[in-house]
Amino acid sequence: MAPSLCWSLRAVLILMVTGAHAAMYTNRCRLVHNHTSESKVLSVLEPLTNQNFTAKTKVAEEDYTYVFQVCGDADGMKDAGVVQRGKDGKQVLIGNYTSAQAFRGTDWILLIYQGGEKYHDHCSKESRKAMIMISCDRSKAAGQLTVVLEDRVRETDCFYLFEMDSSAVCPVIESRLSTGSVLLIVCCCCLAVYLISGFLYQRLIVGAKGVEQFPNYGFWTELGNLSADGCDFVCRTRGSREEPPTYRGVSTEPSEEPEERDDHLLPM
Ligand SMILES: *[C@@H]1O[C@H](CO)[C@@H](O)[C@H](O)[C@H]1NC(C)=O
Repeated sequence: MAPSLCWSLRAVLILMVTGAHAAMYTNRCRLVHNHTSESKVLSVLEPLTNQNFTAKTKVAEEDYTYVFQVCGDADGMKDAGVVQRGKDGKQVLIGNYTSAQAFRGTDWILLIYQGGEKYHDHCSKESRKAMIMISCDRSKAAGQLTVVLEDRVRETDCFYLFEMDSSAVCPVIESRLSTGSVLLIVCCCCLAVYLISGFLYQRLIVGAKGVEQFPNYGFWTELGNLSADGCDFVCRTRGSREEPPTYRGVSTEPSEEPEERDDHLLPM
């Protein structure tokens, strides 16, 4: 029982250490430049997938709701990462998650969705584009989406800028356990299981009392004695094991060296 328990504990520890989780929803995004570094950035956003994030703006007579999703159909529109919905319910595509870019800094991720509906008369009639700045906030799984600015009063390179806070983009606090410490923890857990089960066995089934409840008491005391002997043999500089101690040697076999004789005479 104990070995299998230790193996499962080991498996749990390994899972905790590697923290492996498969990216699923973020795989639906198509990157403009198919860099693996960018898809890694996207996989960080996995906890934010499959949710509609909304932001409302009211500028003069215009009243809009923006809907954002990470690699999913925002507001139910196919391939749309950001959608603008008017008061009348008319949807305008701002950016597609099928032409995405993703960049990461120490505590933020910038997500860009291109290929939105073309402007009618602004911005040289180019495609709309959305930029979503996601910043680290450890207190929020996903904060409120807000519109930072809607820049369409220029000739080219217009964009909609959004921001939101999330703990998903926070830098990972490195607390990886080394192989050594994992082994140490596994050893400790095995030892604990051994001691507890052995103790219970000795107490409840064998009916041992006092120090005898310690599992394999006889073996361990014997081992203790043996290792003490070993230590004695290896570490002691004066050969006390071969020759009996001088104070005992007085009566049995008198020592030949004169200085030794002086030594044992001294305390008397
Ligand atoms: C997002 O909103 C659309 C339209 O309201 C809805 O059809 C869809 O189910 C929502 N998706 C999620 C994941 O809530």
